[in-house]
Amino acid sequence: MTYAAFKSIGAYIPPKIMTNADFEKIIDTSDEWITKRTGIKERRISEENEASSDLGAKAAQVAIERAGINKEDIDLVICATVTPDYLCMPSTACLIASKLGLPPVMAYDISAACTGFVYATAVAKAFIESGMKKNVLIIGAETYSSILDYTDRGTCFIFGDGAGAAIISVTNNKDEAIIDVNCSSDGNYEDLIKTPGGGSKHPCSQEVLDSKMACIKMKGNETFKLAVRTLTSDVETMMKKHNLTSKDINHFIPHQANRRIITAVGKALEMTEEQTVVTVDKYGNTSAASIPMAMNYAYEQGRIKAGDTVLFDAFGGGLTWGSALFRFAPKK
Ligand code: UT7
Repeated sequence: MTYAAFKSIGAYIPPKIMTNADFEKIIDTSDEWITKRTGIKERRISEENEASSDLGAKAAQVAIERAGINKEDIDLVICATVTPDYLCMPSTACLIASKLGLPPVMAYDISAACTGFVYATAVAKAFIESGMKKNVLIIGAETYSSILDYTDRGTCFIFGDGAGAAIISVTNNKDEAIIDVNCSSDGNYEDLIKTPGGGSKHPCSQEVLDSKMACIKMKGNETFKLAVRTLTSDVETMMKKHNLTSKDINHFIPHQANRRIITAVGKALEMTEEQTVVTVDKYGNTSAASIPMAMNYAYEQGRIKAGDTVLFDAFGGGLTWGSALFRFAPKK
C-alpha cells in the first residue's frame, strides 16, 4: 500500500508592509477599530511587478530545498490561487514550474479561494495513493492587492499578499501518512464573497472597470457567522471520524481571516492558545496562502517537529471549506 506524506513546508513573505496606520490615510478607519474587530496589525503587499507566480516560485523553492528532493523528481505541480497571473491562461502553476526550471511536468491551478491549499492537499494525496504521482509540489499563492478596491472600507483592510508551498511524497510508512482530508462546497452562497466582473458572466468592459466589479466584494458580517459555524463543525466531523479529541492535536492551523473567528472556533473545539497557530496579526488574510504561511511560521519558530499531528481547517469563497489531518514527515 502506498501513502502520501507531508514532507516539507516553505513560504515567501513579501517584505513590503502595509500597516493599519496606512489604511487610516486612505479609508475612514482606525488602527483601534481594525485591531479590535480583526486582530490584524499589518499585512504584506507584493511589488508592482510581482505576480502570484513570482511569490509562489519563491515559496516553492524553499519547500523543495527542505524536502531534499531533486526538482526533476517533481511529477505534479498544483497552485491554489484566486489571483492568478492571468485570468484564463496560462495557469499560475505552469508559470511557477517554468520559473523553477522544472522539466515538462503536469501543472494546473485550483480555484477554491481560502480553502485552496486544503483542496490541493486532497488532490496530491489522491494522485499519490492512486500510484499516478510520486512527488507533488503544492502551492498557495495570492496577490489580493491586485483585486482589492482600496475605497471599500468593509473589505480592503483584511487581505494581504504572500505564498506558501509544500512537498507531498509517496511513502510506504503508514505512520507518516496524511491521515485524512475532507473538502466540500456550497455554491448557493456565491454572493457572500465574489469578484462579480471580468469573467464570462460579466466580461471585461468599461462598465466593469468603472464599477470595480472585478474587485472582491464581501458580505463580511454574514461570512463571519458562517465561517465560525463551518470551521467548527468541519473539525468536529473529522475528529469524530478518527476518534480523536483536541488533546490528540499538536498544531491546529486554521484559516487566518480574523482573530475573533480563530478564537471562537478554538474555544468551541477546546484548542489551547499553545496548540493554535496565529499569524493574522502579521500577514492579514492571504486566502489560499494563509494556511501554508501560518504552518511555515510555526515551523521556523521550531514549534512543528517530525511526527507532530497537524490539523488544517479552512473556509472561503464559493463557499468552500475543508480540513486536513496529518503527521508532519520532514526529511530526517
Ligand atoms: O477569508 C474568507 C472568509 N472571510 C472571512 O471570514 C471574513 C469574515 N468577516 C470579518 O472578518 C468581519 O465581518 C469584518 C472584519 C470584515 C468586518 O467586521 P464586522 O464586525 O463584521 O463589521 P460590520 O461589517 O458588521 O460593521 C460594523 C460597523 C458598521 O458601522 P455601523 O453600521 O454599525 O455604524 C460599519 O460601517 O463597523 C463599520 N465599519 C468600519 N468601521 C471602521 C466597517 N468597516 C470599518 C472599518 N473601520 N474598516
